[in-house]
Amino acid sequence: MLRDTDVLSLLMRRIPAHSLAQDLYCDPGSFAVDMAEIWYKEWIFAALSCEMAKAGEYVVHDLGSYSVVIVRGNDGEIRAFHNACRHRGSVLCTAKKGRGPKLVCPYHQWTYELDGSLLWARDMGPDFDPKSHGLKSVHCRNVSGMIYICLAEEAPDFAEFEAETARYLQLHDLENSKVAFESTIVERGNWKLVWENNRECYHCSGNHPSLCRTFPEDPRAIGNDETGEFSDLLEQHIERCASVGALAAYKEAALGDWRYVRTPLLGTAESYTLDGKVASTRPNSTIPFKNAGSLLKFKYPGCWNHFLSDHSIVFRVTPISATETEVCTKWLVHKDAEEGVNYDLQRLTEVWIATNDEDREVVENNQRGILSPAYEPGPYSPIHEGGNIQFTEWYTSTMIRALTGPTRSARRNYSTAAE
Ligand code: FES
Ligand SMILES: [Fe+2]
Repeated sequence: MLRDTDVLSLLMRRIPAHSLAQDLYCDPGSFAVDMAEIWYKEWIFAALSCEMAKAGEYVVHDLGSYSVVIVRGNDGEIRAFHNACRHRGSVLCTAKKGRGPKLVCPYHQWTYELDGSLLWARDMGPDFDPKSHGLKSVHCRNVSGMIYICLAEEAPDFAEFEAETARYLQLHDLENSKVAFESTIVERGNWKLVWENNRECYHCSGNHPSLCRTFPEDPRAIGNDETGEFSDLLEQHIERCASVGALAAYKEAALGDWRYVRTPLLGTAESYTLDGKVASTRPNSTIPFKNAGSLLKFKYPGCWNHFLSDHSIVFRVTPISATETEVCTKWLVHKDAEEGVNYDLQRLTEVWIATNDEDREVVENNQRGILSPAYEPGPYSPIHEGGNIQFTEWYTSTMIRALTGPTRSARRNYSTAAE
């Protein structure tokens, strides 16, 4: 098992613009370092605010060794807490989702208010102080309807991302949306392979027959060319969308951890459907035309999203082990859209259900090949795989900063999530 110093040394010796060293995709020790230095430190997309529309509604998000409960309070605020009782540590919410007026521990029924304070604990004696036994809070932000959490004691600065997200999502109403469908799959591949596959469309024509009906493969049309060159079509699309207030210009964070760009779909396509027409006639955006393409967003390491004129799709990435990653996909439509009237569930979801499964297969093949002793890092295409170059640069620089800087994890002996 690799230790943090081994990981650092592999990163320092990395060949630029090449896939990573074998151990960084396979080794349980390297995975534990990823969890400690990235997943337990960065802001992670966990859930949608519309999943907690009413007071007392909660969602549980498990991440590595942690379990977090995200709940809407009576004051309308959404908060996150460690899903562990302050009595003897039992998991508090055992279901993945639910609703209740209070949070009640199943073990001895300690009862917490929705703001995390301890309301009731039976027979704890005269010296017991309920005030010092409230739930431990986790950093939590509602960013234009998407709930992000951060497990670090001190969360990284989030202000620019929040402000830019508000600008880009101005015409997309996630707060007044609902989850029409949700799918969770496990890909037998390292989380970085899931991301690398997401960040390029070099593989699209050979693997995604249904997505390729509407999604352009041209790297210059989707902002993936390493030189940053855009196609004329993309330039025109950005201008046309911006003229109606649907911000579209390519914007990437200085640290490389997030990006927005609104890209056109192929031809006259309006949405990710097999016929290219909108999937919902009750849109959850106020963009005044249907062919607004897709606002592409990623926020490493936890999510990528597509925001269309009629609906939105959010993908959440959660590492499970060195060679397993959960991908949870949610399709969002306007909260008043009616199934069978405004949208047909199969039309809405079939392209990305198929695409996700095709992606799962190529990621798993990639992982299996990397497990061979014969694997060595190979070169990314500068034309098609600019996104991979960007992702591995972000990963490497973030890890090196974390492993050498002042915010370095205090835990020397990393444990794997499975332990
Ligand atoms: S562990 Fe929760 S009430 Fe005892
Ligand atoms: Fe793909």
